[in-house]
This record gives sequence, C-alpha cells and structure tokens, in this order.
Amino acid sequence: MRILIVYASRTGTTERCAGILGQNLKDVTIINLIAAQNEDIDKYDLIIIGSPIRMGMIDKRVKDFISKNFELLKNKKVAYFICCGFNENWKQYYEQNFPKELLDKAITYDTLGGEMNLEKQKGFDKFIVKLVSKNIDRNKEIKIMNENINKFIERVKEIK
Ligand SMILES: Cc1cc2nc3c(=O)[nH]c(=O)nc-3n(C[C@H](O)[C@H](O)[C@H](O)COP(=O)(O)O)c2cc1C
Repeated sequence: MRILIVYASRTGTTERCAGILGQNLKDVTIINLIAAQNEDIDKYDLIIIGSPIRMGMIDKRVKDFISKNFELLKNKKVAYFICCGFNENWKQYYEQNFPKELLDKAITYDTLGGEMNLEKQKGFDKFIVKLVSKNIDRNKEIKIMNENINKFIERVKEIK
C-alpha cells in the first residue's frame, strides 16, 4: 500500500509529526506543500494530510490542496492530523476547517499536539506568542502528544 503524507509547517512541529508517522509506516512518500503542490495523488492508496493551526485556521496551502483535490479525496482512504497549541479546541478546528463530507469518511482525524517556542517565531507571530504565553496555564504544557501519534499510526496500519 503506497502512502503519501502531505503537510505544511511554519515552525517545524507538523513537519516533525509527519516525519514520525513516516518512520513508523511502510512505503511512504512525504511532501512538504510549501515546496510542491503538483503531486499526482491518484497513484497513492492512502493519503495523510497534516496542518498546523494558526488563529483557528489550517495552513492556506493545506486548504488549497484539499480544495484542488476534493473529488479525488472523496474516493480515497484519507487520514488527517493537526498540530495545535490548544488541544481542547481540536474538534472545533476540524469542524471549521475541513469539509464535513471528507471528515465523515476519514480513516481517522486527530490532533497530535503542538509546540509554542518563542525563539522560533518571527515578527507578528512573536508578538502573538508572547501575548498568548501570558495566559497559558503553566501546568498545561504545550507539547507533541505521543499517545495520539501512536493511536494514529495504529489506526492507519489497520487499513489494508
Ligand atoms: C501566530 C500563532 C497563532 C496560533 N494560533 C493558534 C490557535 O488559534 N489555536 C491553537 O490551538 N494553536 C495556535 N497556535 C499554536 C500552533 O498551532 C503550534 O505552535 C503548532 O505547533 C505550530 O505548528 P508548526 O510548527 O508546524 O507550524 C498558534 C501559533 C502561532 C505562532
């Protein structure tokens, strides 16, 4: 089974998650949508789509990829993941950003957690992260959720 992982990432978390998924699955091609939008996705049996969440929204490149390939994705095995800082909102992010028709027939969709490193931010993003950090409950550390990653991998492995 040929697997394609497509993702966009601003500060590397989604990229890292895509890499972890890739290392744990067989016959995988990983594509960063920032570099390539024109992959022929029809040759893959299963597609994994990953995006970070910013200001409640998925990355524009992921959004464009989904719009462009909507008809194909409807008839494919597809799994989705997001990386976000406020995981309690994850369902809402899916409802607001992904077509219901695709989610209804997804293999799985989940949050794999996120990171908020001030050092990795530039310009306006740095300002936002500083602002948000003041309000973050220090006990609720923002990090990648290994348990969710493992669950995601297991779910994809079940698909033949
Ligand atoms: C400017 C900015 C806005 C963000 N907005 C949200 C948000 O609305 N909801 C959320 O849960 N996380 C938000 N985050 C956290 C990101 O989703 C998190 O940092 C994620 O790990 C980024 O993934 P990436 O490194 O692949 O870009 C925001 C982060 C930044 C820098």
